[in-house]
Amino acid sequence: MAGHIPENLLEDILGRVDIVEIISGYIPLKKAGANFKTNCPFHHEKTASFMVSPERQIYHCFGCGESGNAFKFLMRHERMEFPEAVEMLAKKCGVSLPDQDKPELARAASLSSQLYKVNEMAVSFYENNLHTGSASLAINYLSNRGIKLATIKEFRLGLATSGWDNLINFLRSANVSLALLEQAGLVLPKDSGGYYDRFRNRIIFPVFDMRSRVIGFGARVMDNSLPKYINSPETPVYTKGRNLFGFNLSKDFIRDADSAVIVEGYLDFMIPYQEGLKNIVASQGTALTLEQIKLLKRYTHNVVMIYDGDTAGEIATLRSLDILIDEGINVKVVPLPKGMDPDALVRNEGINALKAKVEKAASFFDYKLDVLKSRHDIKDAHGKTKIASEMLLTINKFDNAILRGEYAKRLSEAMCIPEQYILEELGKLKPAVSTPGGQPVSFPRKNPQINPAEKLLIKFMLEEKELIEKIMRELSPSDFADARTAKIVSVMQDLVGQGKNIEPSVLMNYFSEDDASQLVCETMFMPALTEQTREKAVNDCIARIKIQSLKSRREHLHMQIKSAQSLGDEGKLNSLIQEFHNLIKKGD
Ligand code: UTP
Ligand code: MN
Repeated sequence: MAGHIPENLLEDILGRVDIVEIISGYIPLKKAGANFKTNCPFHHEKTASFMVSPERQIYHCFGCGESGNAFKFLMRHERMEFPEAVEMLAKKCGVSLPDQDKPELARAASLSSQLYKVNEMAVSFYENNLHTGSASLAINYLSNRGIKLATIKEFRLGLATSGWDNLINFLRSANVSLALLEQAGLVLPKDSGGYYDRFRNRIIFPVFDMRSRVIGFGARVMDNSLPKYINSPETPVYTKGRNLFGFNLSKDFIRDADSAVIVEGYLDFMIPYQEGLKNIVASQGTALTLEQIKLLKRYTHNVVMIYDGDTAGEIATLRSLDILIDEGINVKVVPLPKGMDPDALVRNEGINALKAKVEKAASFFDYKLDVLKSRHDIKDAHGKTKIASEMLLTINKFDNAILRGEYAKRLSEAMCIPEQYILEELGKLKPAVSTPGGQPVSFPRKNPQINPAEKLLIKFMLEEKELIEKIMRELSPSDFADARTAKIVSVMQDLVGQGKNIEPSVLMNYFSEDDASQLVCETMFMPALTEQTREKAVNDCIARIKIQSLKSRREHLHMQIKSAQSLGDEGKLNSLIQEFHNLIKKGD
């Protein structure tokens, strides 16, 4: 995470700023004992489970697990890059960054900021084209599609006129380099040398990020020619699968309504939004990605999908259902008639028709069953088996045993299959979890339980530095079964060796993975023990981890021995068996 910024500077900054002051600049915090708490800004909740510790200078949400130090808060809440967050806090507390770091920082932050700037200039140019005299074709097109002038302005729609170099000429005259224009995806190189405008003779739909910065463009023809839309390529500021169209406008509505309607297209967003259905986002094309879902999850856990009434929409809905359920989202579906999309529905039947459909949305279960019944013959034994097993793959996504049982029962009733068969097949599936690609694969359960002893020991080490050496004498990082705790312990060991500070807020600068720093924060908010109980607990934890570690080493050796046996490797076998005996002696 720290990259090229010296650790001691990060530590210096973290030592001077106050995380309570920073967070309360965005959300009100309430005192709760030694800590502060509030409703989590990263997911929707009714009771406060977001904790901030002034002592440790960290935050942690017990609801969604989001946690970190002051840098991380700014990165998540303000969507800053790490260097941006460092710069901002350095400025705030008067720490000056050394000169050799500045150009790098400036470059990283400034390529992005230059791209935002050039995108912004392009949007103004396109907007201007639309609002000057010669754009009647485009204005008529938009008005025929039911888009009001206020909506055109709110979404900052524009026009790329015909011609190969209108944008290039405009931005070149403003001294923007061609290299930057190419990185922004606004121009393309010609075979014969030179560049040409990517978007020509099209309506421009700017794509914004959550902070309403322009990150890319969609551009639509004004007739039936193909391709219908041309989009920006991926750029340093634009990754299509990480962004939801319209989310900058709708996120607060989504939070307030505690639900989001998801549609496919630009117009499917704009028309319902204009007409008053505000808690909506568009996935821009068919497949909903895991990253889009994670973004949405910070605002709501309730989703209604309304994709186009065509085969592509149906396939995309089924795929998205599985990923949504995997992410613990409560999902419903509004099926649309063939050839219909949300935009057309609102224009034909009005916004209330769409709202009524949202109210009456089908459960994932009924939707998927209907689709499968339309694809396979339920009266035929093979068709019936196919339907049931496809349904089971989705039911298997639920972790909760009660829900699994409930859906199994419904499937049994809906298909006249004895419940015991359904349960039997469902049992066979565990613990298969399907990938976003839809193919079931087997791998361990999502969140393997961390041995509580490992977690507790991390807490003790962080709370009382004197314990670290004692624990290090007894255990090595490889004794910890969980990769995260092993990593934390090994970093602590290094830092203590170098005589460095291991404050939790500083420690997490050394972890590139979120998981390890989340664990650090979580342990810090676990209840403290008294002096006497702590000593006993430390010894218990050490003993448990030792036993566990010996057991897994024995198992590992056992497997190696088996494989040496089957390979007939006598030499290796003997030394392994010797090792095994030594280990057993140690365990006694
Ligand atoms: P649709 O083909 O359903 O278009 O594609 P639409 O949104 O209904 O557009 P209109 O109503 O004909 O104007 C849905 C979405 O898929 C992406 C766009 O984001 C579009 O809004 N798409 C579609 C493309 O990126 N390129 C294409 O050529 C077509
Ligand atoms: Mn459409």
